[in-house]
Amino acid sequence: MRVTVFGATGLLGKALAREWTDDDVSGLGSKDADIRDPKQISNVIQRTQPNWIVLAAAYTDVDGCEGNPEHAFAVNCRGALNVAKAAKQFASRLLFLSTDYVFDGAKNRPYETNDPRAPLNVYGRSKAEAEVQISEVLPECCILRTSWLFGNDGKCFPDTILKLAASRPAIDVVDDQRGSPTYTADLARTIIQLCRSDAKGIVHATNRGNCSWFEFAREIVADVRLNSMVRPTTSEQFVRPAQRPRYSVLSSKSLQKQAIEMPTWQDALRRYLRERKAVS
Ligand SMILES: NC(=O)c1ccc[n+]([C@@H]2O[C@H](COP(=O)([O-])OP(=O)(O)OC[C@H]3O[C@@H](n4cnc5c(N)ncnc54)[C@H](OP(=O)(O)O)[C@@H]3O)[C@@H](O)[C@H]2O)c1
Repeated sequence: MRVTVFGATGLLGKALAREWTDDDVSGLGSKDADIRDPKQISNVIQRTQPNWIVLAAAYTDVDGCEGNPEHAFAVNCRGALNVAKAAKQFASRLLFLSTDYVFDGAKNRPYETNDPRAPLNVYGRSKAEAEVQISEVLPECCILRTSWLFGNDGKCFPDTILKLAASRPAIDVVDDQRGSPTYTADLARTIIQLCRSDAKGIVHATNRGNCSWFEFAREIVADVRLNSMVRPTTSEQFVRPAQRPRYSVLSSKSLQKQAIEMPTWQDALRRYLRERKAVS
């Protein structure tokens, strides 16, 4: 199988490159092909002739998107649509990475794939709009929603917490947003399985279980036995430019239909921490 990954220089893209060893995978960063430019995309696809395109390229700075909606929509929506059109033209299958932030978080049970989209922030709106427009061009594409990514290939929440905990006696972390942390290595393996099994439609894929950011931080600090105290706070106390859903847990039913079960987030965190120690 030939695979082309857009966003290969990012947190997930790097994990994908490491995990995806049994197929012919071409990875591209924004310098290789800017997805805002249809010509650059078709040149790449013409050259790589992929059976599958994995579209992990995005402007992922959620607060940055709030201040720069034009760029958010140019990359996350129109750029993604450019890739979908090229996939159609060259008869490639497409797996598009999307987000739990397409939901508003008003539910208190895990979100199903057919729950209505109601994003609270610009990033979520740009992704939700992309989902709709891509599905119109390519009804058989696979839209993979995930959440709270962490991994050893760049900036992520556990890395930030570990650095703060090493230098401060106490850290305050919000306890009123719930979601599912997801290890990029586990998500990469799931993506490979989905492409191999010719998955179509919307799929939700995260590590199993859920927590608040506070609970996640507490587990991180406890696992590495740091002395810093982790204290719960609220989104009101910790105001950020973009509003986040207070509950964005994604149901695993769509993944179960594909006969895939991802490890728990606690198990994933322990493997991340072991790997982090090994590479540092
Ligand atoms: N991070 C999360 O918590 C999270 C949660 C849910 C969903 N997702 C989704 O999962 C996917 C992967 O996220 P990630 O955290 O791995 O992202 P990331 O680390 O921020 O990496 C973003 C990638 O997109 C590329 N990119 C940005 N603008 C581009 C452009 N105009 N043209 C081509 N490539 C461009 C970057 O290339 P360069 O580095 O070369 O510029 C980089 O490879 C994204 O679609 C994201 O929306 C992420």
